[in-house]
This record gives sequence, C-alpha cells and structure tokens, in this order.
Amino acid sequence: MVFDSLGEYLQFLENKGELNRIKTEVDTNLEIAEIMRRLMYSGNRPAVLFENVKGYDFPVFGNAFGTLELVKTALDLSDFTEIGRRITDLTKMKIPSGIINKLKVLPKISEIADYAPKKVDSGPVTEIIETENADLRSLPILKSFPEDAGKFITFGLTITKHPETGIRNIGVYRIQLVNEKKGIMHWQTHKRGAQHYEMMKEQKKRIETAIVIGADPATIFSGVAPVPEGMDKFLFSGIVRRKGVKLIKCKTVDIEVPANSEIVLEGYVDPNEIRKEGPFGDHTGFYTPPEPFPTFNLTAIMRKSNPIYLTTVVGKPILEDSYLGKVIEQSFLPLIQMFQPEVVDFSMPPSGWFQGLAIISIKKRYPGQAKKVMMGLWGMGQLSLTKIFIVVDHDINVHNLNEVIWAITTKADPKRDTLIIDNTPTDTLDPSSPLLNLGSKLGIDATTKTREEGYLRELQKLAVVDEKTKSLVDKKWKEYGFSFYDNSNHN
Ligand SMILES: Cc1cc2nc3c(=O)[nH]c(=O)nc-3n(C[C@H](O)[C@H](O)[C@H](O)COP(=O)(O)O)c2cc1C
Repeated sequence: MVFDSLGEYLQFLENKGELNRIKTEVDTNLEIAEIMRRLMYSGNRPAVLFENVKGYDFPVFGNAFGTLELVKTALDLSDFTEIGRRITDLTKMKIPSGIINKLKVLPKISEIADYAPKKVDSGPVTEIIETENADLRSLPILKSFPEDAGKFITFGLTITKHPETGIRNIGVYRIQLVNEKKGIMHWQTHKRGAQHYEMMKEQKKRIETAIVIGADPATIFSGVAPVPEGMDKFLFSGIVRRKGVKLIKCKTVDIEVPANSEIVLEGYVDPNEIRKEGPFGDHTGFYTPPEPFPTFNLTAIMRKSNPIYLTTVVGKPILEDSYLGKVIEQSFLPLIQMFQPEVVDFSMPPSGWFQGLAIISIKKRYPGQAKKVMMGLWGMGQLSLTKIFIVVDHDINVHNLNEVIWAITTKADPKRDTLIIDNTPTDTLDPSSPLLNLGSKLGIDATTKTREEGYLRELQKLAVVDEKTKSLVDKKWKEYGFSFYDNSNHN
C-alpha cells in the first residue's frame, strides 16, 4: 500500500498490531529516548506512539522504521534494488524514431509524469498557521543523552533549493533547539543543504529553508537517501512511491512542502549567525564534540490541527538509522553497477555505522580491477566518505562477515593488497579521523591474485569434496541419525 501521510502509515501499523501505544505520562527529557533505544535493542516490535507527553499537546511517534520489515511496509517494497532499477531505467530510456515505436514508449513517459510532484493549493498541513506566535518550544523535542547540549529535532526533513538551478533537496539534518525562534542547523559540509547554504553565503545572503516533521514514508526516506546530484528529491520520493507527492507553497518562504505533512517549520538559515552545536550522542556511539554551525530562524509554523511529532534516536548501532541505511545499500546497488558494472553486490554493515566500512564483491576480469573499483566508488557522492573498502570475488557473500574475513585472510597479503590514501574527506562524525572532515582511507583487495599482480607461486586449489562422496553422504544422511540437522549447507 502506498501511504500518502505519516498518519496513514501509523494507522496501518496499528491495524496490523505492530504499534505500541504508551498511555503513561512520559518525559521528553531522556525518558522517551531511553524507551525507544531499549525497544530497538530488543529487536521486538519497536514502533511506538507516546500519547501522553508531559507538558505537550502532540503525541510522539518513534522507531517508525525500526526493522527491515517495517521499512518494507512503509515503502511498499519487498526488494529495495527496485528503487535503483527504476532510476537506471529512466536514464536508459531512448525515444525511438517512427510513430508506432514512439507510441510504444508512451506508457513509460506517462509513468515518469506520474512520479513528478504535483502542486496543490491547500492541504491538511495548513489547518493551523502561526507566524508571530510560532514557538519551537511548543514541539515535544527530545533530549536523548545526559551530556547532549540540549534538545534536538532528529527526524526533520530540511528542504532547500539549489540557488542556481532551483532543484530541491531534502536532507535529514539534526537541529539543536536554542529558543522559541532559533535552532542550530547541523548540515555537514559534504551534504547538499550545506552546499546550497555556502552558495548563498558567497552572495552574502541567507537561505530560505523549510523543515518538515512527519511526511509520507517515501519522502522521509528521500531525506536520508544519497540521491544522484541533479535529481530533485521530491521526484525521487515519487519514484520510490510510484506516485508524485502533492506539494503546497509555504506561507513565508518560497519553498514547497508536502501538503500532507504533519508539521512544517518555515524560516531561513543565516550565515552571520554561527553558534556552537553539540555535544550530541551520535550514530557512532560517541558524543560528537561541539562545532560551529549556522542558525535557523523561524518565521512560521504550519501544521495539522492534531499532528504527530516524528522522532528518532541515534547511538551505538544497531538503532533505527541502521535499517534506513540497509535500504540505501540495496536501493543504490543498480546505480553503482551503472558506473562500475563488475560490481555484483555491496554491503555496509550497520556496526560500521555505514560510512565506516563497505564490502564489495566483483566479477574480476583483469589485474588491478579491485583497486579500480575502490577508486571509482571513492569518487561517487557520499561513498567518498567511506573509510574502509574491502573488495572480494563474486562468489563471496558480502553480507556474511565470516566469508569476508575468510577471503581477507586467505587472499590478501597486507603489503601487496592494501591501499592507504592520506588527506581525504572523512565523515564529520568519524571519532578517529585526525582532523575534522579530513583523514585517510584503507582499501583491502581480497580478490584472488594473478601473476601480474605479484602472486608468483602456484595458485592453491580450493579443497572441496567430490560429487560422488557428496551424493553418497546426502543419501545416507538420515541413516546416520542426523535427520534433524540441515544437510544442505556444506561445501
Ligand atoms: C537519523 C539520521 C540523522 C541524520 N543527521 C544528520 C545530520 O545531523 N547532519 C547531516 O549532515 N547528515 C545527517 N544524516 C545523514 C543525511 O540525512 C544523509 O547524508 C542524506 O543523504 C542527506 O544528504 P544530502 O542532503 O546531501 O542529500 C542523518 C541521517 C539519519 C538517518
């Protein structure tokens, strides 16, 4: 089912028995975050609605995408590679010559038109509009860890426009509450929101910004997805949903937002107002220390009359962000393959908080190919922030760490097969990089080596059983008394 709003998705979870409703009074100060983390770490039915939030009128919805099954339900997809395939299909589409052939591609063209966002004049988010009296403190914003600098909006979708092309970005960037009208915008330097901001800063102008809290699940996913440069993120939402998102204009800024949003914060980010943001207990499990970031100034709040406040908690993996990361890993595989066709599979283990480590399997044809793939991926969008790449042969399952470790320890010679590149961009959150945003990369080529690559010995043969013995043991398996054991999982 394609959901048009967060409320519809929440109702669906409720009907399926997937939602915990908490009626006991709970506090935005540490308590809600701790409950959400415990539910996530338990791995059991994590989605939760806090109905009775001390001092606030709105319910708080957490862990909404807290398992892979929930993300599949939310995006109405069983195979996430489908998202990447829809994008690569669009780039491959050719308009053929001849009227009959043109007619044949018409359904495809109308499909693209279906994905595009549609402008509408009104929607549920305009039920309440506050300008002078708009107050960020009216929202049930959480403090997550004791040494956090304060309260942080953690699941807001920050919308900005590219100052030259007008292409819209949606980014999930946390915002630290300062007072009723101000928050600190934590868009890291490599992200598109920060790029738009820097361009406006060069012109000595502030950048108009809208922050959506609670939207249809595909648009929320769009906010975390590293969508290819030049693609409007609302078009991406439409591609994920197979249906365009309805957008309305904000009241005080020239930005469009989903008409079915729960809450919209309108305003601007001012380059002349820099504040220290943090510390904040982050995705890595460590407190990210304070760093300067610009200030968001509120000009209006639009909201539904009874909105849901969507939030998420981060911390030592595995929390909700890990499942969103898994979707990114799978959905962008076809795009990676478009540029690096030898890539068979790709994995970013959640314990490596995604930017820390990625494993890639390739169908190797020529010497040096693993290094070629690493260098290509380090040049691709947010993959440029990945600290460690491990490249393995196509017959290694990248999602099985035992197989990957076996490949590293049997196929990689540290001197010959590792690559260290210094002074490269690193993830802002990396607690180990020597400088903020600058550090080194490690590449491990764990593919089978050839003579040209410096392997001068005879290739050792993989020790595997012969077919005759295999089928003999298969046949007699029950006779041995092993009927309860899985007999199929051997080499
Ligand atoms: C829960 C969550 C919180 C995030 N917080 C931040 C943040 O504070 N700052 C940031 O730059 N990226 C943050 N990210 C990552 C971005 O949302 C992600 O890189 C996204 O692709 C935005 O990049 P873009 O604006 O360049 O497309 C967060 C992601 C998640 C899932």
